[in-house]
Amino acid sequence: MRRAQTLAKAHLDLGEVEDEFASSVIEGLSNAQKSLPCRYFYDARGSALFEDITRLPEYYPTRTETQILMDYADDMVGSVGDGGLLVEFGSGSSLKTEILLDHLGSSVAYVPIDVSETALADAKARLMRRYPSLDVRPIVADFSHALTFPADLAAREKTGFFPGSTIGNLAPQEAASLLTVFGRALGRSSRLIIGVDLKKDPRRLIDAYNDQAGITAAFNLNLLRRINRELGANFDEQGFRHRAIYDPAKGRIEMHLVSRHDQQVSVCGRTFHFSAGESIHTENSYKYALEQFREVARASGWRPARVWTDTREQFSVHELIWPKAGRGCA
Ligand code: TRP
Repeated sequence: MRRAQTLAKAHLDLGEVEDEFASSVIEGLSNAQKSLPCRYFYDARGSALFEDITRLPEYYPTRTETQILMDYADDMVGSVGDGGLLVEFGSGSSLKTEILLDHLGSSVAYVPIDVSETALADAKARLMRRYPSLDVRPIVADFSHALTFPADLAAREKTGFFPGSTIGNLAPQEAASLLTVFGRALGRSSRLIIGVDLKKDPRRLIDAYNDQAGITAAFNLNLLRRINRELGANFDEQGFRHRAIYDPAKGRIEMHLVSRHDQQVSVCGRTFHFSAGESIHTENSYKYALEQFREVARASGWRPARVWTDTREQFSVHELIWPKAGRGCA
């Protein structure tokens, strides 16, 4: 709180806001269509609410992807050779990873990458109990930044893992850029196993992001609570409601927070006006047809290979292969 007040005071006269969280919030709220940066959803409460989302009856992606991994793990990682490396981007609790680890030999090392040091430590402790001979080598990092491996791991054959359709939270062009970052990090002849949610009946999509129990609403509204706490803002959580819509042209679910009435909110010494019904756009979740996602992969420099889905084709897991030599290089 003290930090927040200092910030608010220091920047009252429109000075540069140095805090990255503060500056991205102010920037987003200054746009004609107000928005907030989705990467700040995951404070401790946000992470706990997200865990609850993954268990909701309406939220089919986690359950469906887990089943696909269980059904095809052997196909997915059976060919990973001795001394291979499994590299997970944004590993969190590493729960789905166990399904793959069950099908990997004991000489494989696992490199979980996450911004949360505590999530990495918890996951490592659990995995070391479950897989005593597994070499777990966590890296604390934002996976969207370029990554270099410790020298002793650099030359090993790498398989990337990016489940949860997190790729869908980026627009297709940004998704392609991120996939290129992954490819460069993993290097020649590497593979990527990536989960991608599929287009389907909009009703089912909307329900998945607007559950009966109101957990997704609480998750979305928690962003306002975090801004109040960390930036000393005065959002009234009761003054906004959660809305999920599907835009069929863009092929994406949009999450918004809609102002219930005319109101003003102050954030870091600036005042923002909300009219009744005006929304803050907080997140996108893009949905793909199988071939559409393969096209994004191609644009990023990966070669799409096998695809696994559930029988109802609700969710997909893709295998991508990074070429042996750099494209366009002699
Ligand atoms: N990437 C997943 C999805 O888009 C999980 C997720 C990210 C999510 N943010 C969310 C789920 C917000 C519900 C609400 O489905």
